Amino acid sequence: MQKMQLYKDEFLAFMEEKVRMKEPENLYGPILYMLQLGGKRMRPILVLLSTEIFGGSYKNALQAALAIEMFHNFSLIHDDIMDDAPMRRGKTSVHEKWDLNTAILSGDAMLIIAYKLFEDYEKETFVKLAQLFTETAIKVCEGQQYDVDFEISDDVGVDKYLQMVEYKTAVLLAAALKMGAIIANASKENTENIYEFGRLLGIGFQLQDDYLDVFGDPKSFGKQIGGDIIENKKTFLYLTAMERSTKKEAKQLLHLYDLAPNDPSEKIVAIRTIFEESGAAKHTQKEIQKYTKMAFEVLDKIAIGPDYKEILKSFGEDLMNRKM
Ligand code: IPE
Ligand code: IPE
Ligand code: MG
Ligand code: MG
Ligand code: MG
Repeated sequence: MQKMQLYKDEFLAFMEEKVRMKEPENLYGPILYMLQLGGKRMRPILVLLSTEIFGGSYKNALQAALAIEMFHNFSLIHDDIMDDAPMRRGKTSVHEKWDLNTAILSGDAMLIIAYKLFEDYEKETFVKLAQLFTETAIKVCEGQQYDVDFEISDDVGVDKYLQMVEYKTAVLLAAALKMGAIIANASKENTENIYEFGRLLGIGFQLQDDYLDVFGDPKSFGKQIGGDIIENKKTFLYLTAMERSTKKEAKQLLHLYDLAPNDPSEKIVAIRTIFEESGAAKHTQKEIQKYTKMAFEVLDKIAIGPDYKEILKSFGEDLMNRKM
């Protein structure tokens, strides 16, 4: 775990040096605000870790790590607009602190800055990184659109949900790990397997995010608890509850999802109770464990030393038990 802390510290120092305040203040101010809000920094840490796992030096991976974190934070600024989210990492979200147009443009600029960060890689690596990044970014957009479409669709099942979260969330984690493999020139097989490890872990990660959105501690989670319920998101909890509820409960859940009260607190409590009583909460926890276990099984196929496997495993376990 010391390694993970080192990667985090090195990444933060690099970011601080690279990302500086400039004019116009209303473009760069929100960018700095967002990047300095904190967060777990797991994607950049994974880029650095993966590079070293496959025999490269993390120093060569800092640019790519910053690109991924920049992209991630861009996606969060726009996601908070789309989800009407007032809070991010315990602070006011960008579109609330500034305004909608500022948040849109600052987000756009972050996406472009992210691309620019790949320019320093030599041609062959640059092409591979940029291709992966483009492919991933398009999937994130597709996933985000499905997420919003599902709010008003009554034809969403677990399969569609899993596809949606793979796109909006898991592929970026997978790409972070694959970037390390690309930078370190890992074998094709190792590159594919580390991507698959990230994809499976990423699905579990989003299931956990759905869970924490309802059952998390507002102090540690940093986002509005019940935000998904307010937005009528078809989360894993909702879909499982619909499947496993009695007819009466399912009807009540549908009815509750139809309501848009000014004060949502009662709606949130009622839905939370259904999630618990239907067994959806427990089942979601089980699924998180299932995806984490599947990820660990892929790990067994990767030709790396036992120390690194241990680091990846305890990273996966920490994700499962996280509170933020
Ligand atoms: C939030 O990602 C968006 C999701 C994919 C659920 P993180 O939980 O990694 O957010 P930060 O960067 O740590 O705040
Ligand atoms: C976010 O999913 C995925 C992306 C930002 C691409 P969520 O909407 O669940 O993320 P949070 O909960 O707001 O962080
Ligand atoms: Mg959101
Ligand atoms: Mg969202
Ligand atoms: Mg969420």
